[in-house]
Amino acid sequence: MLFSSSFVSAAFMMLSSVTALPQPENGALSGRATGPCAAGSYLYNATTCAFCPVGSYCDGTSGQAQQCDSGHYQPSINSTSCLATVPGYYQNAKGANNTIPCPVGSYQPYGAQAFCYGAPKGRFQNMTGQATVCGTCCGWAAPLQNNNINPVNCSGTTPNAWPSSGDGCTAANTTCVRAATCIQLANGTCPAETIRG
Ligand SMILES: *[C@@H]1O[C@H](CO)[C@@H](O)[C@H](O)[C@H]1NC(C)=O
Ligand SMILES: *[C@@H]1O[C@H](CO)[C@@H](O)[C@H](O)[C@H]1NC(C)=O
Ligand SMILES: *[C@@H]1O[C@H](CO)[C@@H](O)[C@H](O)[C@H]1NC(C)=O
Ligand SMILES: *[C@@H]1O[C@H](CO)[C@@H](O)[C@H](O)[C@H]1NC(C)=O
Ligand SMILES: *[C@@H]1O[C@H](CO)[C@@H](O)[C@H](O)[C@H]1NC(C)=O
Ligand SMILES: *[C@@H]1O[C@H](CO)[C@@H](O)[C@H](O)[C@H]1NC(C)=O
Ligand SMILES: *[C@@H]1O[C@H](CO)[C@@H](O)[C@H](O)[C@H]1NC(C)=O
Repeated sequence: MLFSSSFVSAAFMMLSSVTALPQPENGALSGRATGPCAAGSYLYNATTCAFCPVGSYCDGTSGQAQQCDSGHYQPSINSTSCLATVPGYYQNAKGANNTIPCPVGSYQPYGAQAFCYGAPKGRFQNMTGQATVCGTCCGWAAPLQNNNINPVNCSGTTPNAWPSSGDGCTAANTTCVRAATCIQLANGTCPAETIRG
């Protein structure tokens, strides 16, 4: 059988001298190995299996705990696979137990990703955890190359802007109808004249 009856308990809770990674979750050893360790656990040493720790998966074939790849994570112990990040989230680290919402000024349309895209010129993103990016409105501009959080209201000697334009505020006339506001709604909905980045 994969696990013997002798469950290793409190005697082995302190494992600070063990340097091999990954460490068992809370020092939890799953049992004596008399054969391969079961899926969801891994071969801790020659005679002992341990619960697969968070941030890793143990598919039961290699006997080893494998760190989740970037773009993936695992918050639970005993896992046989990792979870992919969903759109609007990312994970840049290997061996992660959580997923990270894209910061304001960035977005991620795809799952299983290690980064978020910065909102480029003419686009902005006011909220965290978003899969899409907003385009600016007529008369409003987002001038940075990356990570625009809010559009600016064009005024002064450069009062105009085409919607979603990388040209920013300009003195040149536009034929579009100037928007009085260019605010993203609290549920993430972009203002009018929005395109997906
Ligand atoms: C494996 O680890 C357990 C718990 O630390 C220990 O009791 C056992 O002696 C170890 N076995 C080997 C072969 O190192
Ligand atoms: C992990 O697996 C062991 C062995 O099957 C079980 O005793 C334990 O409750 C499991 N823990 C979790 C959090 O699933
Ligand atoms: C989960 O990941 C966070 C961030 O990396 C870390 O601080 C925490 O210790 C991890 N939790 C466990 C149970 O490993
Ligand atoms: C998002 O936009 C609102 C309204 O323009 C603003 O009050 C808020 O500060 C913005 N959020 C961030 C993080 O800049
Ligand atoms: C935007 O700028 C225009 C031109 O300066 C001004 O008329 C308008 O009141 C401003 N709107 C907001 C919401 O600040
Ligand atoms: C903008 O358009 C108005 C009306 O057509 C015109 O009078 C004005 O000269 C134009 N300004 C520029 C800078 O082209
Ligand atoms: C966002 O809120 C607006 C205004 O309350 C509503 O019309 C729109 O349907 C909402 N969109 C989503 C995706 O919930």
